[in-house]
Amino acid sequence: MSDNHVSRRDFIKFIGIGTAALVGSATGAVKVAEAAEKAGEKAKTDFYHKFSGKPPFRPIQHSDRDELVLPSGFKQDVVVAWGDDIGNGEKFGYNCDLTLYFPIEKSSEHGLLWVNHEYVGSGALFMYDASTPEARKYEIEQYNVGGSVIEVKRVNGKWTLEKNSKFARRITANTMIDLTGPAKGDDAVAGAVEVKGTFANCSGGKTLWNTALSCEENFESDAARWGRNGTHYGWVVEIDPFDPASKPKKHTALGRFAHENTAMTLSRDGRLVVYMGDDANDQFFYKFVSEGKYNPAAGKANSKLLEKGILYAAELGEGKWLPLDLELSPKLKEKFNTQGEVLVHARDAAKLLGATPLDRPEDVEVHPFDQTVYLATTNNTKHGNFHGQILRFKEDGNDAASLTFEFEVFAVGGPQSGFSCPDNLEFDKNGNLWVCTDISSSKLNQNNVYESFKNNGVFFISTHGRNVGEAYQFASGPRECEITGPDFTPDGKTLFIAVQHPGEETTDPANPTSRWPYGDIPRPAVVAIQGF
Ligand code: FEO
Ligand code: CA
Ligand code: CA
Repeated sequence: MSDNHVSRRDFIKFIGIGTAALVGSATGAVKVAEAAEKAGEKAKTDFYHKFSGKPPFRPIQHSDRDELVLPSGFKQDVVVAWGDDIGNGEKFGYNCDLTLYFPIEKSSEHGLLWVNHEYVGSGALFMYDASTPEARKYEIEQYNVGGSVIEVKRVNGKWTLEKNSKFARRITANTMIDLTGPAKGDDAVAGAVEVKGTFANCSGGKTLWNTALSCEENFESDAARWGRNGTHYGWVVEIDPFDPASKPKKHTALGRFAHENTAMTLSRDGRLVVYMGDDANDQFFYKFVSEGKYNPAAGKANSKLLEKGILYAAELGEGKWLPLDLELSPKLKEKFNTQGEVLVHARDAAKLLGATPLDRPEDVEVHPFDQTVYLATTNNTKHGNFHGQILRFKEDGNDAASLTFEFEVFAVGGPQSGFSCPDNLEFDKNGNLWVCTDISSSKLNQNNVYESFKNNGVFFISTHGRNVGEAYQFASGPRECEITGPDFTPDGKTLFIAVQHPGEETTDPANPTSRWPYGDIPRPAVVAIQGF
């Protein structure tokens, strides 16, 4: 990436503004957006033309090989795989998804990773056999979901797991977790102030104060099998990876639905804004705006901001954010008695107010330079939308707390673009978008509309400049996997990904459909990619 490697600092320099404005990631982004506006559209366009467009690699072809295929010049290290010891007597869980890199002493070569473990599914074939008592089966499954904190380090050019880490920790379906916000103690959650465990942890995001937000997505079937109260799941969970004794929190103010991820930024007046998708057919796009303002000096105390604010759902026809709030939207009183109830049934509340049903709104990310918001709508085969889109939202006044917005279709999946079913998104330091695809494993490499795409992969899409919207394939995963959780180190030199559910269609554990990565049975694993 050497010839077109830039940062916000470079951009500030490019448009001739001092670097003092750069403080922290999202605040820095707001300052840059303001600076860019002052510098005018021409400077912005010139900048993107100079630095965006070409992928920093030679694109690969679609592949159906049972391996992680990368462009030449890139190197991969399997950092940790399912079942590995991670330290403190704990083992890495199944189906890794979100990865979040937290630097130790600002290093891009030594840090903690928070990793989600979404679900077990056909992985159960490798965990127990039919004669295992049901209670034991559930115990094994409940340990293998939730998330992990691991310590990773780059030694002699290779990323490795630190097995004697004091930070190593598992959060599972049995870890006790506090509820915060309006639904805490409400009848709608059977009066609970704390709940048992987290599972269905799909993607998530970082907070501005260096904690992890992990999103509970498709929790219904396991909640039913394990006899759990479904209203205790479907929330956003906050975990502090640096404090192994800390108790995680589920922030009910952010609503309950099939949460995909969180993208946190700041409004112009310094309130927190968290964008969120609800990954299901015909569900909605949401944002939470805190009541209080972010104070960088307060560090982790900013977590309180996630306990009080307004949750909105998007109505795309008129470009409006609809408040899911009993006082601001009195229509909600037809159906709900308390704000807790509104949040527990956020989907019903959004539907009642006329939010726009979307085709599986999954990952959402805020562009690091111009604050536009990118949302992947993966697909909705019932609507004939087989390949999905990436939408781009622009808040009015370039203010994340605005009540109105415009949007456009930024990129469209299909044979014409070369990618299908966009899911996880990630921006690099240059404002390029990296897109992970999620064609359902049951449909991969079959005689159907997905056949030509072969295995799921990772694509690079430029957001500005000459090749805007063009997709170039960077990676192809092993068989039946989905590549998830992309996260760059702060220096942009390492990309962490999670290879989820390789060999998911296996029915006979003696004949798995994938043997990635170790050549025996399929093991979901986190990979560090270098060469940028
Ligand atoms: Fe767990 Fe929406 O992917
Ligand atoms: Ca996902
Ligand atoms: Ca997915």
